[in-house]
Amino acid sequence: MHIYKVGGAVRDRLLGRPVSDIDWLVVGATVEEMHAKGYRPVGADFPVFLHPKTGEEYALARTERKSGRGYGGFTFHASPDVTLEEDLTRRDLTINAMAEDEAGTLYDPYHGQTDLENRILRHVSPAFAEDPLRVLRVARFAARYAPLGFRVAEETLELMRQISASGELQALTAERSWKEIERALMEAQPQVFFQVLGACNALQELLPELQAAPQALAALEQAAAHGLPLHVRWACLLRLLPPASIKAVNQRLKTPRECQELALLTGECLALADKALELPASALLELLQKFDVYRRPQRFEDFLIACEMIALGEGKAGYPQAGYLRGAAAAARAVDVKPLVQGGLTGQALGEALKSERLHALEAYKLN
Ligand code: CTP
Repeated sequence: MHIYKVGGAVRDRLLGRPVSDIDWLVVGATVEEMHAKGYRPVGADFPVFLHPKTGEEYALARTERKSGRGYGGFTFHASPDVTLEEDLTRRDLTINAMAEDEAGTLYDPYHGQTDLENRILRHVSPAFAEDPLRVLRVARFAARYAPLGFRVAEETLELMRQISASGELQALTAERSWKEIERALMEAQPQVFFQVLGACNALQELLPELQAAPQALAALEQAAAHGLPLHVRWACLLRLLPPASIKAVNQRLKTPRECQELALLTGECLALADKALELPASALLELLQKFDVYRRPQRFEDFLIACEMIALGEGKAGYPQAGYLRGAAAAARAVDVKPLVQGGLTGQALGEALKSERLHALEAYKLN
């Protein structure tokens, strides 16, 4: 049996980037031999094993055939006679289809190294189309390696357009799509992900709502440049959509609650925040209540940061409303509930008294 390092680990080493996890390929072995050497199978009918000590993935060389629609529609052929080259052919991109043996010799039958040097994301063979998720993967790699000057090869973009037109993207599960989108959002230039999806007509299949809001990408670009977390990036991207569309996108993709909440609140409250300096104390209070700023101060802060990124994306020098609203939140939060409780107030009466005290605090804040 021969063992090779494959995929991302080889690619990222050649690019001089940090290698996070290593995928290994085993050629010339049977399932029984792997068991005998102590490797643990990952699943019942998937020829992938975990190393008994390192826990790294070791996959038996295989060929893949698509036998139906969707992700389930695959049959694998893993056997000791599948060669290294056959296994590499079924992979998505030439830069992901290189292998390295124990002596450090590089196997590169599809010229991935040349494509790496020329900064090109190019598919290996027509087998690319067998997994529609690869459309998202290519867009994600484009977003990750954009700072290095990578672009998608024209023939690969054309193949991605054909996949979009086939309707196959609709067969992807929400979980698989979101996993890619989530990773893409956290890349160096996430806006490139959406630009590539737009260029191959996949955006209209996966996120049709976004087509009407290309300006949103500028805010996302700012959020990434500032190293902000996932939910803030997501809120920046969706903020121009009507609330009903924001809800629909989140439900369809089954996004995490934190992403759903901040995106919806940002879409609903951005216009109000823009006018913060002119708002009466009652409207300021309403905004703070909507965010439940007393129990969830960080959520309001995340919203303000998203607003700042949106302003920067629109070419503004800053967003003075953010500082003003931070001050308003601090003033309202400074109201002490204790004296009201000690005065014997409970339930609804306590709630109303608290609200009235906070309103006074905001009126005083406005006068300063
Ligand atoms: N692969 C593929 N098609 C897919 C998924 C994976 O061809 N839909 C192949 C590629 O050769 C890839 C390898 O499997 O390099 C490992 O996949 P994965 O670990 O998902 O990606 P990496 O390339 O390691 O990239 P990342 O840095 O994003 O983890």
